[in-house]
Amino acid sequence: VHNLGEKNSILNQFISEIRDSKVQKDAMRFRLNIERIGEVLGYEFSKELGYSPARVKTPLGVKEMNLNQDHLVICSILRAGLPLHQGLLNYFDTAENGFISAFRKHDGNSDNFEVIVKYFAAPSLVGKILVLTDPMLATGRTLENVLLALKQHGTPSAIHIISVIGSQQGIEYINEIFPEHTHLWIAAIDPELNSRGYIVPGIGDAGDLAFG
Ligand code: PRP
Repeated sequence: VHNLGEKNSILNQFISEIRDSKVQKDAMRFRLNIERIGEVLGYEFSKELGYSPARVKTPLGVKEMNLNQDHLVICSILRAGLPLHQGLLNYFDTAENGFISAFRKHDGNSDNFEVIVKYFAAPSLVGKILVLTDPMLATGRTLENVLLALKQHGTPSAIHIISVIGSQQGIEYINEIFPEHTHLWIAAIDPELNSRGYIVPGIGDAGDLAFG
């Protein structure tokens, strides 16, 4: 688990704004901050990719540089994953893309819910690096169900989960069910999960805040 909010950086500003209930009223700023967090997390996780030497011709000469050649597939969980997806795509120009729908279906008014995955469009993942984005990791059950659905698209060589905010409990859950070569990049981890499966203090419902 790479908890990037542990070290002080400009990331704190973006996280404080998405948490702040006054600033949250501006949905455009909320989306932009999630996108910017996606860019920061993307930059950080790019340090773990493979690099090989390449020659770049400048107007005045040639420079050898290490460039990444990995084949990335960025898969995002709707809806709240969309701005995070855009942030990653701002940096990984040639990545392929996948989209997955997942929502919680509550059993009447009770706190019990199941996670329904209905729509899943993605290219083959065989041997590629899967970048799975979802801004919230609360109980971890969405990611668990998405992991099951992903199996039909082949086995990636590595999985990087990109998330904005998680609960300690959800992260422990994910750690147990995800296969080897899975890395989690997250901007903040909160201690509590309430009885309805919401992260406390958290940010609220990221999907609603971004899209109404
Ligand atoms: C939220 C969030 C995650 C999920 C996390 O989605 O965006 O996908 O809950 O919760 P979990 O770890 O307990 O499964 P939501 O169901 O609110 O859908 P939305 O993004 O379309 O609003």
